[in-house]
Amino acid sequence: MNIAVFASHGGSDLQAIIDGCKNNQINARVSVVISNNGNSMALQRAEAEGIPAYHLSANKSGNEEALATEILDILAKYNVEMIFLAGYMRMLHISVLEKYNNRIFNIHPALLPKFGGKGMHGMNVHTAVIKAKESETGVTIHRVNAEYDSGEIVAQTTVPVLKNDTPEILAARVLDREYEFLVEVIGDIVNGYKVSDKNGTLLCTNIKGIDRSGYHIPISQYGDGIETILTKEQYQANCYKVGGEEC
Ligand code: GRF
Repeated sequence: MNIAVFASHGGSDLQAIIDGCKNNQINARVSVVISNNGNSMALQRAEAEGIPAYHLSANKSGNEEALATEILDILAKYNVEMIFLAGYMRMLHISVLEKYNNRIFNIHPALLPKFGGKGMHGMNVHTAVIKAKESETGVTIHRVNAEYDSGEIVAQTTVPVLKNDTPEILAARVLDREYEFLVEVIGDIVNGYKVSDKNGTLLCTNIKGIDRSGYHIPISQYGDGIETILTKEQYQANCYKVGGEEC
Protein backbone atom coordinates (compact mmCIF):
# COMPACT_ATOMS: atom_id res chain seq x y z
CA MET A 1 0.00 0.00 0.00
CA ASN A 2 1.19 3.51 -0.81
CA ILE A 3 0.91 5.97 2.02
CA ALA A 4 1.61 9.70 2.25
CA VAL A 5 2.96 11.47 5.30
CA PHE A 6 2.34 15.16 5.92
CA ALA A 7 4.71 16.89 8.35
CA SER A 8 5.64 20.47 9.17
CA HIS A 9 8.77 20.41 11.30
CA GLY A 10 11.30 17.88 12.54
CA GLY A 11 9.80 14.82 10.90
CA SER A 12 10.89 12.49 13.67
CA ASP A 13 7.52 10.74 13.51
CA LEU A 14 7.95 10.57 9.74
CA GLN A 15 11.31 8.89 10.27
CA ALA A 16 9.74 6.33 12.60
CA ILE A 17 7.13 5.56 9.92
CA ILE A 18 9.77 5.26 7.18
CA ASP A 19 11.85 2.95 9.38
CA GLY A 20 8.76 0.91 10.29
CA CYS A 21 8.09 0.40 6.57
CA LYS A 22 11.69 -0.49 5.86
CA ASN A 23 11.82 -3.18 8.52
CA ASN A 24 8.39 -4.55 7.56
CA GLN A 25 6.56 -3.62 10.75
CA ILE A 26 4.35 -1.56 8.46
CA ASN A 27 3.41 -3.30 5.24
CA ALA A 28 3.44 -0.11 3.16
CA ARG A 29 5.73 2.35 1.48
CA VAL A 30 5.92 6.07 2.15
CA SER A 31 5.42 7.13 -1.45
CA VAL A 32 5.38 10.85 -0.93
CA VAL A 33 5.95 13.42 1.81
CA ILE A 34 4.19 16.78 1.83
CA SER A 35 5.11 19.74 4.01
CA ASN A 36 3.80 23.27 4.33
CA ASN A 37 7.28 24.30 5.49
CA GLY A 38 10.00 24.48 2.86
CA ASN A 39 12.75 24.47 5.50
CA SER A 40 11.47 21.51 7.46
CA MET A 41 13.69 18.63 8.48
CA ALA A 42 10.79 16.45 7.35
CA LEU A 43 11.49 17.32 3.71
CA GLN A 44 15.21 16.76 4.21
CA ARG A 45 14.58 13.38 5.79
CA ALA A 46 12.35 12.37 2.88
CA GLU A 47 14.96 13.46 0.34
CA ALA A 48 17.68 11.59 2.21
CA GLU A 49 15.51 8.46 1.91
CA GLY A 50 14.88 9.02 -1.79
CA ILE A 51 11.19 9.71 -1.18
CA PRO A 52 9.52 12.38 -3.34
CA ALA A 53 9.04 15.43 -1.14
CA TYR A 54 6.90 18.48 -1.85
CA HIS A 55 6.71 21.87 -0.23
CA LEU A 56 3.12 23.00 -0.79
CA SER A 57 1.31 25.90 0.77
CA ALA A 58 -1.69 28.14 0.15
CA ASN A 59 0.77 31.00 -0.31
CA LYS A 60 2.64 29.19 -3.06
CA SER A 61 -0.50 27.83 -4.74
CA GLY A 62 -2.47 31.08 -4.50
CA ASN A 63 -5.29 29.98 -2.20
CA GLU A 64 -6.64 27.02 -0.21
CA GLU A 65 -8.61 25.57 -3.15
CA ALA A 66 -5.61 25.65 -5.47
CA LEU A 67 -3.49 24.06 -2.74
CA ALA A 68 -6.04 21.28 -2.28
CA THR A 69 -6.03 20.61 -6.03
CA GLU A 70 -2.24 20.33 -6.02
CA ILE A 71 -2.31 18.02 -3.02
CA LEU A 72 -4.94 15.78 -4.62
CA ASP A 73 -3.00 15.65 -7.90
CA ILE A 74 0.15 14.57 -6.10
CA LEU A 75 -1.70 11.97 -4.03
CA ALA A 76 -3.20 10.59 -7.25
CA LYS A 77 0.17 10.59 -8.99
CA TYR A 78 1.63 8.36 -6.27
CA ASN A 79 -1.51 6.20 -5.92
CA VAL A 80 -1.78 7.11 -2.27
CA GLU A 81 -4.36 5.10 -0.34
CA MET A 82 -3.92 6.45 3.16
CA ILE A 83 -2.57 9.65 4.67
CA PHE A 84 -0.84 10.07 8.03
CA LEU A 85 -0.46 13.51 9.55
CA ALA A 86 2.67 13.45 11.68
CA GLY A 87 3.17 16.90 13.13
CA TYR A 88 1.35 18.64 10.25
CA MET A 89 0.27 22.07 11.39
CA ARG A 90 -2.42 22.83 8.83
CA MET A 91 -6.07 21.92 8.49
CA LEU A 92 -6.76 19.90 5.33
CA HIS A 93 -9.23 21.30 2.81
CA ILE A 94 -12.65 19.68 2.69
CA SER A 95 -12.00 18.30 -0.81
CA VAL A 96 -9.02 16.32 0.53
CA LEU A 97 -11.02 15.18 3.57
CA GLU A 98 -13.85 14.01 1.35
CA LYS A 99 -11.65 12.22 -1.15
CA TYR A 100 -9.78 10.38 1.61
CA ASN A 101 -12.74 10.02 3.93
CA ASN A 102 -11.86 7.70 6.84
CA ARG A 103 -8.37 7.20 5.45
CA ILE A 104 -6.58 10.15 7.06
CA PHE A 105 -5.08 9.70 10.51
CA ASN A 106 -3.37 12.11 12.89
CA ILE A 107 -0.97 11.51 15.73
CA HIS A 108 -1.58 13.65 18.80
CA PRO A 109 0.70 13.73 21.87
CA ALA A 110 -2.00 13.53 24.57
CA LEU A 111 -5.07 11.56 25.57
CA LEU A 112 -7.80 13.12 23.44
CA PRO A 113 -10.44 14.42 23.89
CA LYS A 114 -8.45 16.16 26.60
CA PHE A 115 -5.75 18.60 25.51
CA GLY A 116 -6.78 18.86 21.89
CA GLY A 117 -8.12 21.56 19.59
CA LYS A 118 -6.74 24.66 17.96
CA GLY A 119 -3.45 25.78 19.47
CA MET A 120 -2.93 22.46 21.25
CA HIS A 121 0.27 21.35 19.61
CA GLY A 122 3.92 20.95 20.49
CA MET A 123 4.96 22.12 23.93
CA ASN A 124 1.56 23.77 24.57
CA VAL A 125 0.06 20.32 25.04
CA HIS A 126 2.59 19.16 27.61
CA THR A 127 2.50 22.48 29.47
CA ALA A 128 -1.28 22.19 29.75
CA VAL A 129 -1.08 18.57 30.95
CA ILE A 130 1.33 19.52 33.75
CA LYS A 131 -0.69 22.58 34.68
CA ALA A 132 -3.82 20.44 34.98
CA LYS A 133 -1.91 18.13 37.37
CA GLU A 134 -2.73 15.05 35.31
CA SER A 135 -1.14 11.84 36.55
CA GLU A 136 -1.03 10.40 33.06
CA THR A 137 -0.92 11.57 29.48
CA GLY A 138 -0.28 9.63 26.30
CA VAL A 139 -0.59 9.37 22.56
CA THR A 140 -3.76 9.29 20.46
CA ILE A 141 -4.14 8.19 16.87
CA HIS A 142 -7.41 9.39 15.42
CA ARG A 143 -9.18 9.88 12.14
CA VAL A 144 -9.07 13.37 10.74
CA ASN A 145 -12.19 15.40 10.12
CA ALA A 146 -12.88 19.10 9.62
CA GLU A 147 -12.21 20.06 13.25
CA TYR A 148 -8.90 19.94 15.04
CA ASP A 149 -8.28 16.71 17.00
CA SER A 150 -11.92 15.63 17.10
CA GLY A 151 -12.18 12.69 14.67
CA GLU A 152 -12.85 9.16 15.82
CA ILE A 153 -10.18 7.81 18.17
CA VAL A 154 -8.54 4.71 16.74
CA ALA A 155 -5.98 3.91 19.41
CA GLN A 156 -4.45 5.36 22.56
CA THR A 157 -1.59 4.55 24.86
CA THR A 158 -0.77 6.10 28.20
CA VAL A 159 2.45 7.62 29.52
CA PRO A 160 2.92 8.60 33.19
CA VAL A 161 3.37 12.21 34.26
CA LEU A 162 5.98 12.31 37.02
CA LYS A 163 6.27 14.71 39.92
CA ASN A 164 9.13 16.87 38.74
CA ASP A 165 8.32 16.82 35.03
CA THR A 166 8.93 19.93 32.99
CA PRO A 167 7.08 20.19 29.67
CA GLU A 168 10.36 19.31 27.92
CA ILE A 169 10.98 16.19 30.01
CA LEU A 170 7.39 15.05 29.55
CA ALA A 171 7.50 15.76 25.80
CA ALA A 172 10.58 13.55 25.46
CA ARG A 173 8.92 10.69 27.37
CA VAL A 174 5.76 10.93 25.26
CA LEU A 175 7.71 11.12 22.01
CA ASP A 176 9.72 8.09 22.91
CA ARG A 177 6.55 6.06 23.39
CA GLU A 178 4.98 7.69 20.35
CA TYR A 179 7.57 6.33 17.88
CA GLU A 180 6.97 2.77 18.97
CA PHE A 181 3.19 3.15 19.24
CA LEU A 182 2.61 4.80 15.89
CA VAL A 183 4.52 2.07 14.09
CA GLU A 184 2.44 -0.56 15.87
CA VAL A 185 -0.89 1.14 15.14
CA ILE A 186 -0.10 2.17 11.57
CA GLY A 187 1.02 -1.42 11.08
CA ASP A 188 -2.42 -2.57 12.25
CA ILE A 189 -4.16 -0.02 10.06
CA VAL A 190 -2.39 -0.95 6.85
CA ASN A 191 -1.74 -4.63 7.51
CA GLY A 192 -5.24 -5.34 8.69
CA TYR A 193 -8.42 -6.28 6.98
CA LYS A 194 -9.61 -4.44 3.93
CA VAL A 195 -13.28 -5.22 3.88
CA SER A 196 -16.48 -4.12 2.25
CA ASP A 197 -19.44 -6.04 1.00
CA LYS A 198 -20.37 -5.70 -2.65
CA ASN A 199 -22.33 -2.53 -1.92
CA GLY A 200 -19.49 -0.95 -0.02
CA THR A 201 -21.26 -1.44 3.30
CA LEU A 202 -19.16 -1.87 6.40
CA LEU A 203 -19.26 -5.49 7.45
CA CYS A 204 -17.72 -5.15 10.82
CA THR A 205 -15.30 -3.27 12.96
CA ASN A 206 -12.16 -5.20 13.66
CA ILE A 207 -9.71 -5.18 16.52
CA LYS A 208 -8.73 -1.79 17.93
CA GLY A 209 -11.79 -0.20 16.37
CA ILE A 210 -10.31 0.20 12.94
CA ASP A 211 -12.90 -0.35 10.27
CA ARG A 212 -12.01 -1.33 6.76
CA SER A 213 -15.05 -0.15 4.89
CA GLY A 214 -14.52 0.37 1.23
CA TYR A 215 -11.68 -2.10 0.89
CA HIS A 216 -11.13 -5.58 -0.42
CA ILE A 217 -9.37 -8.20 1.61
CA PRO A 218 -6.47 -9.90 -0.13
CA ILE A 219 -7.11 -13.58 0.41
CA SER A 220 -3.44 -14.07 -0.39
CA GLN A 221 -2.90 -13.21 3.24
CA TYR A 222 -4.53 -16.54 4.02
CA GLY A 223 -2.83 -18.61 1.40
CA ASP A 224 -4.42 -18.92 -2.03
CA GLY A 225 -3.06 -15.75 -3.61
CA ILE A 226 -6.35 -14.53 -5.09
CA GLU A 227 -7.78 -11.16 -4.21
CA THR A 228 -11.51 -11.25 -3.72
CA ILE A 229 -14.40 -9.70 -1.86
CA LEU A 230 -15.31 -11.70 1.20
CA THR A 231 -18.83 -12.59 2.15
CA LYS A 232 -19.83 -11.54 5.62
CA GLU A 233 -19.44 -15.15 6.76
CA GLN A 234 -15.97 -15.44 5.27
CA TYR A 235 -14.95 -12.17 6.83
CA GLN A 236 -16.24 -13.13 10.23
CA ALA A 237 -14.42 -16.44 9.99
CA ASN A 238 -11.18 -14.69 9.12
CA CYS A 239 -11.68 -11.99 11.66
CA TYR A 240 -12.20 -14.55 14.35
CA LYS A 241 -9.24 -16.59 13.21
CA VAL A 242 -6.81 -13.73 12.82
CA GLY A 243 -8.02 -11.08 15.20
CA GLY A 244 -9.11 -13.47 17.90
CA GLU A 245 -12.21 -11.38 18.49
CA GLU A 246 -15.80 -11.83 17.47
CA CYS A 247 -16.89 -9.39 14.81
C1 GRF B 1 4.67 14.94 18.04
O1 GRF B 1 4.41 15.65 19.20
C2 GRF B 1 3.38 14.48 17.44
O2 GRF B 1 2.50 13.98 18.39
C3 GRF B 1 2.90 15.70 16.78
O3 GRF B 1 4.09 16.22 16.19
C4 GRF B 1 5.21 15.85 16.99
C5 GRF B 1 6.27 15.17 16.16
O4 GRF B 1 6.95 16.10 15.45
N1 GRF B 1 1.76 15.50 15.98
P1 GRF B 1 8.03 15.70 14.36
O5 GRF B 1 7.64 14.37 13.80
O6 GRF B 1 9.38 15.58 15.02
O7 GRF B 1 7.98 16.80 13.36
